[in-house]
Amino acid sequence: MLIDPAEISPRDMYLHMVRAITPRPIAWVSTISAEGVANLAPYSFFNGVSANPPSVVFSPVNRRDGSKKDTVLNIEATREFVVNVVPHQLAEAMNATSATFAPELSEFAECGLTPIDSQRVRAPRLAESPIQMECTLLQIVHIGEGPLAANLIIGKIELMHVADDILDGEGQIDPAKIDTIGRLGGASYTTTRERFDMPRLK
Ligand SMILES: Cc1cc2nc3c(=O)[nH]c(=O)nc-3n(C[C@H](O)[C@H](O)[C@H](O)COP(=O)(O)O)c2cc1C
Repeated sequence: MLIDPAEISPRDMYLHMVRAITPRPIAWVSTISAEGVANLAPYSFFNGVSANPPSVVFSPVNRRDGSKKDTVLNIEATREFVVNVVPHQLAEAMNATSATFAPELSEFAECGLTPIDSQRVRAPRLAESPIQMECTLLQIVHIGEGPLAANLIIGKIELMHVADDILDGEGQIDPAKIDTIGRLGGASYTTTRERFDMPRLK
């Protein structure tokens, strides 16, 4: 099969891309609006991009009506956000926060999750998540226009909180204890429970 993006709709191209680019890590992003409403939403077009400065990127695409998601509006207003990681036991709660809520409603309250104060940014952290990265905005890169066009959010990690109980004996994050999930296409997810080691070649 050959897929020529010029011959199909952005929606169909999106469906192919999310089945081809797998597994994707999930940034569970908390922000706060100019009016002080806390927001929480998952984004799987997400990755780390640099350690100097420590930076992450994620991509909220425009809604089908071409409007920006609340996460983008909040980051444009405050230039701050927190990336919380998603362990398997929080999968359903994460999914619940992806529903469309009115901007004046907080996903924290609507989904029974706990916001706690951050130290370097105004956006709250998610207490239930074992790793929370407080970030400041470096840049927003707009790719395309209209529905499904991207607002690529690039942020610098100012402070990273890691729960002590997911560390191994050497003070490193233990992949078995963090138990993150990844997103596949459609409604599919994967755990990170089946792993293999492969030493880097010189
Ligand atoms: C696992 C998962 C991953 C998602 N990844 C993205 C993504 O990368 N980009 C995007 O625009 N929406 C993504 N969504 C959809 C948003 O979470 C959803 O549109 C949400 O309502 C946006 O909330 P907000 O308007 O409060 O920012 C994802 C949803 C789920 C469940």
